Amino acid sequence: TVGFKIGLLGLGTVGTGTAQILLNPVQRHPLVAELELYRVGVRSLDKPRAVDLPADRFTTDLESIVTDPAVDIVVEVIGGLEPARSLMLTAIAHGKHVVTANKAAIARFGDEIFTAATEAGVYVLLEAAVGGGIPVIEPLKQSLCANRIHTVMGIVNGTTNYILTRMQTEGGDFADILADAQQLGYAEADPTADVDGLDAADKIAILASLAFGGRIKLPEVHCEGIRQVSAADIAYADKLGFVIKLLAVAKRTPQIAPDDPEHLQVRVHPTLIPKIHPLASVNDVNNAILIEGDPVGQVMFFGPGAGAGPTASAVVSDILNIAAILTVGRGSQTSLEGKALLDPLLACS
Ligand code: HSE
Repeated sequence: TVGFKIGLLGLGTVGTGTAQILLNPVQRHPLVAELELYRVGVRSLDKPRAVDLPADRFTTDLESIVTDPAVDIVVEVIGGLEPARSLMLTAIAHGKHVVTANKAAIARFGDEIFTAATEAGVYVLLEAAVGGGIPVIEPLKQSLCANRIHTVMGIVNGTTNYILTRMQTEGGDFADILADAQQLGYAEADPTADVDGLDAADKIAILASLAFGGRIKLPEVHCEGIRQVSAADIAYADKLGFVIKLLAVAKRTPQIAPDDPEHLQVRVHPTLIPKIHPLASVNDVNNAILIEGDPVGQVMFFGPGAGAGPTASAVVSDILNIAAILTVGRGSQTSLEGKALLDPLLACS
């Protein structure tokens, strides 16, 4: 067997969801039996956990996981900037592949992290960082890479979409609805990041960087959250045939003359959307991302944008994709397994 040892950093909502899938796999991927949840880094050893692992697999010494020679893939789901950034860099320096859900760290330190990964020859995958369970990062990187992308726009924060949907459908108090979103595991540890649009700004900066092939810096992203949206705004919008959504938009500005310099606009703000627009019916915790490119035209990705299960789906898929590439690279699989890994139809059979 091949065998991949996973070092999991963080056992919050996403970490617990990830551990549960790793311990009770439901998928039929040929490498699923090769993944071992080897060590888990937590803040405190005393907390009760919904993860069934021997006590000696847990540690509060996260550094010891990212430097452990036995660990193949580090999964960073502690969130926040530090120590997440340093732990990812140390893992990379120790030759480990990294899977992360950390949009805040990637939006700020993506350059540093990807440069280090390229130098070390390791993968850093981040499907879970944008859109929760929706595959959008890898499609943008791979399946749409033949296109010149003009626009990436959508609803990329589940918490605010959940709040706006409930304000729209039942009225209700902002604070109560936010508390429900926190309870459901949608919101960030500090929900200010959701409500003020900062989480969406991180995500659109990442998508825009991938789509337009540069590094979009966060201070360049115009950002306005939903605090100012009142029940009256929503009611008036409704009467006029609109809904209010927190949109994240990245687009190339049109060139009027052929030699006009090209600019990008990247912004997050509440937006009036006609009820007939496809984004208007994206409700609750769902996210949707509309990508417009040449020659593909418009494609739209839709699905659950936050929560333990959907986000863990993206994390574990990234882990399996790294394991698949490594297995083929190591050449240590049987020929049937090797074929199955490269053949999507066989892999799913
Ligand atoms: N707090 C985020 C959201 C989690 O509500 O969308 C998923 O990134």
